[in-house]
Amino acid sequence: MKPIEALPTVLSCQNLSKSFRGSHKQETVVLTDINLEICKGTFVTILGQSGGGKSTLLKLLGGFLPSSSGVLLFNGQPLKSNTPDIGMIFQDHNLYPWMTVEQNVGFGFKIKGEKPGKYKHLVHEILDIVGLSHARKLYPHQLSGGMRQRVAIARSIVVKPTVLLLDEPFSALDVQLRRRLQEFLLALWSEMNTTMILVTHNVEEAILLGQNLVVVGESPGRIVEEITISDAQYRDRYHPNFLRLQRYLESVLEGTSKEQANDYYEGILAIPRIQRN
Ligand SMILES: Nc1ncnc2c1ncn2[C@@H]1O[C@H](COP(=O)(O)OP(=O)(O)O)[C@@H](O)[C@H]1O
Ligand SMILES: [Mg+2]
Repeated sequence: MKPIEALPTVLSCQNLSKSFRGSHKQETVVLTDINLEICKGTFVTILGQSGGGKSTLLKLLGGFLPSSSGVLLFNGQPLKSNTPDIGMIFQDHNLYPWMTVEQNVGFGFKIKGEKPGKYKHLVHEILDIVGLSHARKLYPHQLSGGMRQRVAIARSIVVKPTVLLLDEPFSALDVQLRRRLQEFLLALWSEMNTTMILVTHNVEEAILLGQNLVVVGESPGRIVEEITISDAQYRDRYHPNFLRLQRYLESVLEGTSKEQANDYYEGILAIPRIQRN
């Protein structure tokens, strides 16, 4: 696993908050006091309950939504909206139904006005990596759910973004497929320099994939815990320490008393932890 300490910061949030205005003009605070440093090339998972503000946080980090207050820096500069260096994958892939796999994957180059001759080899290369060379002439409706999600990953990764944001990308898939794609994503990440930020409400997924695991609590959404996972035993979902950490994080999410949650934490070894209130 890549060591985190020596890496430069790619995204930095300082006291970030986000409110939405409701129908009667009252403000609802969805996220508050978000302080987060994301290092280049790391795999960060953001864990939280549904409705807790995870998607909103991801949209802020991608510059797809403006924050209400606070500072958000990308490579040391204020983040601009629509930065091509940041890609995003949604839960339901968002492929264009009228385009073939190959056309979908090459779309990022096409809208930049590049000629197919210039990027076709890159599209073929990435389709080979995601194991979909045989399907390049097919349309999305001819693919299984897992294949569609691999096309979505290929489409985002082919343009080599600095940061890739993934919003519950596997939650619509069955358990077996979800596990295969989790392994696939980890393998892809270890070969590339892309910073991955994946949002999930699934504790197992957050532990398996995350090098840095950030827990977002509710009402309003804020970071309640941040842990760094650098030990291979947390890549094995049947390891006793994996299960201990899973139990601890479940209790944090469910809002179990601090004493109880800390009791669960006692048995977990070798995990640096930043606890927040
Ligand atoms: N554009 C919006 N306008 C008003 N409220 C919103 C908007 N987007 C999200 N919200 C509210 O913000 C809260 C968090 O939503 P979201 O970030 O989607 O949570 P999660 O992804 O964790 O399920 C929800 O209560 C949701 O209704
Ligand atoms: Mg969401």
